Amino acid sequence: MKKIVTTALLLTCFFAFSQQKTIDQKVDALLKRMTLEEKIGQLNQYTGDNAATGPVTINPNKQSEIKAGLIGSMLNVLGTQHTRQYQELAMQSRLKIPLLFGQDVIHGYKTTFPLPLAEAASWDLDAMELSARIAATEASASGIHWTFAPMVDISRDPRWGRVMEGAGEDTYLGSKIAYARVKGFQGKLGDLNSVMACVKHFAAYGAAVGGRDYNSVDMSERMLWETYLPPFKAALDAGAATFMNSFNDLNGIPATGNKYLQRDILKGKWNFKGFVVSDWGSIGEMINHGYVKDSKEAALAAITAGSDMDMESNAYRYNLAQLVKEKKVPIGLIDDAVKRILRKKFELGLFEDPYKYSNPEREQAALNNPEHRKAAREIAAKSIVLLKNVSPPGREKSVLPISKQTKTIAFIGPLVKERKQNMGFWSVELPEVDYDKHVISQWEGLQNKIGNTAKLLYAKGCEIEGDNIDGFAEAIAVANQADVVILSIGERRDMSGEAKSRSNLRLPGVQEELIKAIQATGKPVVVLINAGRPLIFNWTADNVPAILYTWWLGSEAGNAIADVLFGDYNPSGKLPMSFPREEGQIPIYYNHFNTGRPAKNENETNYVSAYTDLKNSPKFPFGYGLSYTTFEYSNLKLSKNKIKNTEKITVTLNVTNSGKVAGEEVVQLYLRDKVGSVVRPIIELKDFQNIKLNAGETKTIQFIIDKEKLSFYNANLQWVAELGDFDVMIGSSSADIRLRDSFELMN
Ligand code: BGC
Repeated sequence: MKKIVTTALLLTCFFAFSQQKTIDQKVDALLKRMTLEEKIGQLNQYTGDNAATGPVTINPNKQSEIKAGLIGSMLNVLGTQHTRQYQELAMQSRLKIPLLFGQDVIHGYKTTFPLPLAEAASWDLDAMELSARIAATEASASGIHWTFAPMVDISRDPRWGRVMEGAGEDTYLGSKIAYARVKGFQGKLGDLNSVMACVKHFAAYGAAVGGRDYNSVDMSERMLWETYLPPFKAALDAGAATFMNSFNDLNGIPATGNKYLQRDILKGKWNFKGFVVSDWGSIGEMINHGYVKDSKEAALAAITAGSDMDMESNAYRYNLAQLVKEKKVPIGLIDDAVKRILRKKFELGLFEDPYKYSNPEREQAALNNPEHRKAAREIAAKSIVLLKNVSPPGREKSVLPISKQTKTIAFIGPLVKERKQNMGFWSVELPEVDYDKHVISQWEGLQNKIGNTAKLLYAKGCEIEGDNIDGFAEAIAVANQADVVILSIGERRDMSGEAKSRSNLRLPGVQEELIKAIQATGKPVVVLINAGRPLIFNWTADNVPAILYTWWLGSEAGNAIADVLFGDYNPSGKLPMSFPREEGQIPIYYNHFNTGRPAKNENETNYVSAYTDLKNSPKFPFGYGLSYTTFEYSNLKLSKNKIKNTEKITVTLNVTNSGKVAGEEVVQLYLRDKVGSVVRPIIELKDFQNIKLNAGETKTIQFIIDKEKLSFYNANLQWVAELGDFDVMIGSSSADIRLRDSFELMN
């Protein structure tokens, strides 16, 4: 049996190898027939007619340039009809090289899934892979070949609006998610329902100074390698076909013109065989950076550094030929970039059938596909984080879940009846989809859930922004008639996203005032906070008995929220970012160093590393999230307390559902390397497991600690595990460590 499997494996490898060989041969043969202009055309990407996602350069000649073979790729062209129209133009070109259609399919295509940051709160890798798979299935059906996702930028700064697009602050969790998402998008590249992934933004974009978008990044090499690069490497290990560089400068060199990042690390050390696309206009923006003086120098810097495709700068289109003629750019550089792009077009099967992915029937079937909607509802429910759930004064039971026997429910707030808002930023808007029908509002979700069994009252209360409190009186009157009040408040969906940095992270407008007014009625109150980033809402957190962080949950938002409110789904989300108490704590992250003067407790401030006017700890820590049940951790055992470099430790423990309902817990394994040749974080996530437990049930869990988990980049950037003592911590969050032990790594 083993022999058969081995032979089959060898044959598969052989076929894959010979197929790659033939693709390489085809690429070489085609390259030989291409003029310099046609080669440069392949490196050129223009935006199409759909909503632009950056400052557009007006180019009236798009159609004739495609026919002349001067454009290799388009973005923002949506739907089978449009992609086909453009592809038909490409088929009129001399060599008939098909266009690649790219699109920001960030969290769903027709079916909108929760924001990537929200999904990250599920810590459910299978669910995230599935959501990417569904997005790929839908997008590929309408002619899209390539998504500009996943965004894998680690960020410790919620002022940066783009945190909504990533997986949060942690490198380990972020790497696992990056891997899952690439697998989901790409499936088996070339299959009909797959799209190429594009890992972005290479690199360190999430560390923009002050959380201001497009801003500079200055960081140590060690920080870059240890914290910011691993999710990119994980995405590459998952087979990511393409990378996108980034807008920021890194230690003084714009990422787009950064040879160290793109040639030395990505294409060199990591041996990446796909291609790199610039970010929107980022080649041209090197002029603003003050790194080059004009578009010609920008093209030279970018191609030399390893940026293969120019998104919307027109820098390659108008300068590369001249640069080659002047011998400033060796033709080998151009050929390498062209080959990388052509190879992907062959792998996708576009030369065999340039319309392969444009299929109106498949496109139609992808819309309102019940399986897709079901998956969207499930992951939306998994993404919700229960931040607080206590009993209001004078009552015995916590507010949530709301009893299905409740007679009158007041649903109040500016987001209750919104539909499109639930899609959040970076959702795809298709002309043929009526989003007023497609997205389940929170109101509709609640109606679906309770039917006629309860009376549902509504008041808007206030707008998201502005200082008008005229609606408060009606909201209070409605609240007074109800047995329980649900308040849906938060951001507008376009408040967190690209170019949406904010210095003030409070709930916008008078929304917290509305919460105070409703809380003063004495009714049991649940607050739903809809947002794309961690917000600050200290009064609410301290005074309101029940809070769900619902982010933006996509097409099925209303149903998923209702599932959680009424206990049909027991919340299991855990925060992928620390929530600050005040903006002054930012950047804030759980895995910081101890410093030479750590405070012994939160009240100590004298000559220790602390604020005199604020605690160090976040309001809600990384990894935090409650459930309607409780979990007890016990019986931690390490298979050894001393190991050698080559050995592993098996960690076992028991987790018991000590409450009354079934639930899901994310059990988190953290380590601390007590002494290092460079200082180490006080705590670092190294593994986790999602487990489902019925009430009263106990499960034994196992983690393996190996050399990889103990390693870090030393001062010489070597990946090493150093001898010495390590703490093992098992927690329900980074700040709720339930079990501890330690071991020694010996010679
Ligand atoms: C963003 C990218 C995006 C591109 C294309 C840029 O502004 O930074 O993440 O993929 O636009 O829409």
